[in-house]
Amino acid sequence: MNNTLTTIILAAGKGTRMQSAKPKVLQTLADKPLLAHVLDTCHSVNVDKTIVVYGFGGEQVKNAMADYQLTWVEQTEQLGTGHAVKVTLNELPVEGKSLILYGDVPLVSAETLTRLKQANVSGMSMLTLTVDNPFGLGRIKRDEQGNILAIVEQKDADEQEQAIREINSGIYCVDNALLHKYLPNLSNDNAQQEYYLTDIVKMAVADGIVISAIEPEHEFEIEGVNNRQQLASLERQWQTKLVEDLQVKGVQFADPTRVDIRGEVTVGQDVFVDVNVVFKGKVTLGNKVTIEAGCIIKDSQIGDDVHIKPYCVFDEAEVGNEATIGPFAHLRPKTVLANNTKLGNFVEIKKSTIGEGSKVNHLSYVGDAQIGANVNFGAGAITCNYDGVNKHQTTVADHAFIGTNACLVAPVTIGSAATVGAGSVITKNVEENALAIGRGRQVQKSNYKRPEKKK
Ligand code: UD1
Ligand code: CA
Repeated sequence: MNNTLTTIILAAGKGTRMQSAKPKVLQTLADKPLLAHVLDTCHSVNVDKTIVVYGFGGEQVKNAMADYQLTWVEQTEQLGTGHAVKVTLNELPVEGKSLILYGDVPLVSAETLTRLKQANVSGMSMLTLTVDNPFGLGRIKRDEQGNILAIVEQKDADEQEQAIREINSGIYCVDNALLHKYLPNLSNDNAQQEYYLTDIVKMAVADGIVISAIEPEHEFEIEGVNNRQQLASLERQWQTKLVEDLQVKGVQFADPTRVDIRGEVTVGQDVFVDVNVVFKGKVTLGNKVTIEAGCIIKDSQIGDDVHIKPYCVFDEAEVGNEATIGPFAHLRPKTVLANNTKLGNFVEIKKSTIGEGSKVNHLSYVGDAQIGANVNFGAGAITCNYDGVNKHQTTVADHAFIGTNACLVAPVTIGSAATVGAGSVITKNVEENALAIGRGRQVQKSNYKRPEKKK
């Protein structure tokens, strides 16, 4: 028996109601294109082959998904969901099973797809749900014993059928042999003159196949996106779920509705997150981390007992234990802060390491620098790392003291326990334990008279 699993993802729709130059499946939810959500879920259920049916904006969609291994099939005319799957038949293995998914139904879970696959024991399984308002959706017709007979579309349904509240999600797991057998025989003799994929259900029933149906754990898993309101509604539902997952792991949110998770957050115990914090990409937080209001933390690893004060921006930063950062600090890519470091307000760090116990407390820029342990980087002191063309390194050894408003013109090295006087422009290396002063001498003119205005 051949066990290969294929996914067929329908993504040919234009998404007119989005009012966008972008194809619908490239609209983003939690900072990620809708189609990428589906592809990542497929990846986590070990799909062997992924076929994407595209139409509108094909090149744009292909370019955006270049990182994935996909088989692209163009559907030049949108003649219905059945037609969309039919155009994949040349690429569809003859054996194995297929999951049929949609590029604009982004949040179906890996667990649901695994259950759906397992439920396909006789050729076909489908994902259905009983809802309060089934209007517009295909209805599941069952016989007295509860066996599925057919799916009837809204526009083809009589009054009795319209009263049915069990709806078709459109997501199925079907044996490829059945798709090869049934799809060439679809007709468009219906209210919408479309080739309905749903018609394969009655074809299978006629062949004596018992179709099993399962429900998703969450309703949002089968919700599609057709307009901006639906996109925003799905975003909120998804955020609520991500926040609840983190609460279960012990995170305290000041307000669970005022935080956004656009990626993956891994946490230790007793993390506190204040309002309006945004996480992006892969973020790891240690135990007892406090993040105050308005911080944006992207692709960063943060150790234990770290305190991040309001309005800090992190991008690819690595922070050791017991560090204190902010308010208003900007940690740019390749910032590494060792344990017990302290960054204050209006401090920007880029591609630099700050050693254990060191402090950069006020109004500083540190770029392309290695700062040792127990260094004090005074208020307003900066590294001048850029000569207009090249970036140069600054090294500051342990226990150095960099005076207020000093400029360290790179490449330059400050020796251990050296002192740089306030306001100095340092262009030459400073040896250990030395004091370096590089500034104009103070001049005094006694009894000086300022100019006076003539009357
Ligand atoms: C379909 C189901 C309906 C189900 C509903 C769930 C059929 C006939 N009906 O209806 O039972 O309740 O989904 O949302 O399948 N697409 C293509 N090419 C096409 C047509 C559609 O790629 O030629 C894609 C669209 O981009 C869209 C999806 O398939 O993402 C659904 O198509 P649509 O025609 O909107 O189906 P529904 O009317 O929603
Ligand atoms: Ca339709």
